[in-house]
Amino acid sequence: MALCLWLIVVAPVCSWGQRPVDTADSVVFQPQSALTDMEFASVSTYRGPGNTDPRPNNKLPILLWWSSNLFPHFPGDTERVDCAHSSCLVTSNRKVQLYRRTASIVFYGTDFRAYEAPLPRLSHQTWALFHEESPMNNYLLSHNVGIRLFNYTATFRRESDYPLTLQWLPSLDYLLKPTAVPLQEKNRWRQAGLAPVLYMQSHCDVPSDRDRYVQELMKYIEIDSYGKCLNNKPLPDYLEDTSTATGEDRRFMSFVSRYKFHLALENGLCPDYMTEKLWRPMHQGCVPIYRGSSSVADWLANNHSAILIDDFSSPRELAEFIKALDQDDAEYSRYLEYKTPSKITNLRLLEGLESREWGVNDMSKPNYLNGFECFVCDRENERLAAEKAHRKNPKQNLSPQPKMANSSHMGCPLPSPGYGPVEHIDPNDG
Ligand SMILES: *[C@@H]1O[C@H](CO)[C@@H](O)[C@H](O)[C@H]1NC(C)=O
Ligand SMILES: *[C@@H]1O[C@H](CO)[C@@H](O)[C@H](O)[C@H]1NC(C)=O
Ligand SMILES: *[C@@H]1O[C@H](CO)[C@@H](O)[C@H](O)[C@H]1NC(C)=O
Repeated sequence: MALCLWLIVVAPVCSWGQRPVDTADSVVFQPQSALTDMEFASVSTYRGPGNTDPRPNNKLPILLWWSSNLFPHFPGDTERVDCAHSSCLVTSNRKVQLYRRTASIVFYGTDFRAYEAPLPRLSHQTWALFHEESPMNNYLLSHNVGIRLFNYTATFRRESDYPLTLQWLPSLDYLLKPTAVPLQEKNRWRQAGLAPVLYMQSHCDVPSDRDRYVQELMKYIEIDSYGKCLNNKPLPDYLEDTSTATGEDRRFMSFVSRYKFHLALENGLCPDYMTEKLWRPMHQGCVPIYRGSSSVADWLANNHSAILIDDFSSPRELAEFIKALDQDDAEYSRYLEYKTPSKITNLRLLEGLESREWGVNDMSKPNYLNGFECFVCDRENERLAAEKAHRKNPKQNLSPQPKMANSSHMGCPLPSPGYGPVEHIDPNDG
């Protein structure tokens, strides 16, 4: 609805479908209405350190948030942001799409639909992609033609411009939290009939095809499965509410932390895509049996803090390994050594947590949405300054190099069967 109105307003001016709109056209088209309130609002006094940007609001580049569900400001639809090095005006008001000052359009990956994209694309505008969710939410972006539309990205991949790889790990302290249930007590629960392994999954038909693997594993080792997938145990009444079962509810946490091992299989298998499925058992002091990111070892606390399914040639071999660990307290305890800070030896993990500027549930740090917005703002101001310098003195100042994303910012291998050859999958399987 909003889009139709907007089309009616601009269509006569931008001549949709007749000739490409370029920068010159948008100079002609500079309606006064869209940002009026903000344009004349007083310049805010806060500055990031290193930001000496003297410009008033009506001289700042504009970043337009295109996805209607995502605008990290409240209230209103337009705000000035003063970032580490420079300032921008950010807005969710689509009327500014054709402004010359609109330097970048920011998209939310999960909502991105090619047919809703602001086309034709203006040559002076960059596109920025924020996609913190699972790659399975939008396959278009896993394809090279899809991802190359964007100049800047914030995704789970370390190759992304603004990586969110550790977004599910709140802090180092979260990992260091003492084991919730001591091993002796876990062993008592084992004797009382608890299985060694927990599975808790209610989203069953996913690209990683995890249930097929778990089903096979269940033939060789006892697994208590409480979720909808491969369910073999009822949850106790007090945990029946599934909204509780997925959160950080204290009773839920103490229920699951009695298990020595937690099956932790992501819904999609992509390099650097790791979620709370990995970090939460470690927080509780349970050993994750993990499949997801093929490069997960790059981020683990040390080389002995999770069991990686891909290290085993079959579910049966994995089951033998878990059974042996279940019987060997000393060896099991080695998997929890990282609870002692000096045993966290992975520098990439330590540096990744130390150097990220955004926080998770941490009010003292910006969130990654505002962080990415400022990243784009600073990059765009740099680009505009470089272009200006180039126009003034083309011989001395090179024009800035174009920059665009590629499949390393988002890509995932094609889905494959979770267990066994593809011919064994029932053709009627979703
Ligand atoms: C794990 O790390 C320890 C100490 O950092 C090292 O001695 C050991 O060889 C490593 N093991 C593997 C399998 O890399
Ligand atoms: C942004 O990406 C597009 C391709 O998707 C490219 O044509 C354009 O040159 C890039 N812009 C900048 C400023 O790098
Ligand atoms: C993809 O982009 C990264 C930088 O973001 C770059 O280092 C890499 O060379 C690019 N790969 C290809 C194949 O263009």
